[in-house]
Amino acid sequence: MMILYQNQFVPKDKMHISFEDRGYYFGDGVYEVFRIYRGKLFEKQAHMRRLVRSAGEIRLRLPYSTEEIEEKLESLVIQEQIEEGTLYMQITRGIAPRAHVFPKNAEPVLMAYCNEVKRPLGSIKEGITAVSVEDIRWHRCDIKSLNLLGNVLAKQEAVERGAGEAILHRSGRVTECSASNVMMVKDGVIYTHPADNCILHGVTRAVVLKLARQEGLEIREEARSLEDFLQADEAFITGTTVEITPIIRIDGQAVGTGRPGPLTVQLQSAFEKAIIS
Ligand code: PDD
Repeated sequence: MMILYQNQFVPKDKMHISFEDRGYYFGDGVYEVFRIYRGKLFEKQAHMRRLVRSAGEIRLRLPYSTEEIEEKLESLVIQEQIEEGTLYMQITRGIAPRAHVFPKNAEPVLMAYCNEVKRPLGSIKEGITAVSVEDIRWHRCDIKSLNLLGNVLAKQEAVERGAGEAILHRSGRVTECSASNVMMVKDGVIYTHPADNCILHGVTRAVVLKLARQEGLEIREEARSLEDFLQADEAFITGTTVEITPIIRIDGQAVGTGRPGPLTVQLQSAFEKAIIS
């Protein structure tokens, strides 16, 4: 396995990272996770746009032009010969003695690698269970920053409570999940939190909303309460790794019939077509 580190491809067992990298000290950086379908980066431009935006929002200068970054990522996928998998990349503010203030002369550090990962077809078909967890994160969840402690704690709590995902809520208003966006269906209408500062503007979320419109389905980008989710006909999560995964139980209570619902299945088949086209 090769790691892209700045300009070089380094074998995994030869990789060394400085203890003074600000990613390590402060989580001071941004990241992206891309899906690779049939050897290609899915929704590459959308991920690149979000990367540029996230970096801008934390005043992080990208070490290379976006064209150069895309080229590097694509050559990594080719070199690693990944047909189906994921590509992780992060950029930190660089290497400098520990001080909160931005370092004057540090160069931002790019790191990326690919993993061969199969699509989670079992949970896509059968669905997963979820539990509700208070959203204790900061107020800039739209930035895909390396600081994921709130997400990590939520996911850990979900797993310890025997569930697959944590549905996060701020005082009862559902935002998103620990590593995915969340949508619900009630009386034929799809609801999801608006793309504001409370959620990550998911690439998969945008694809699903586009597909829903093409399918003629009604969408409302409105925050719903946890109570609404518990009373929903259907619920599902969206994300690069989970695609469209149904939620069949929330806090031990069945969602709708307790089986993946018809609109969820309709969107899944539209998504299926989108990833092979
Ligand atoms: N997570 N919300 C959060 C908090 C996320 O971490 C993610 C993705 C999403 C979905 O975004 P997208 O559709 O662009 O993948 C929503 C990635 C996969 C991760 O951290 O591993």
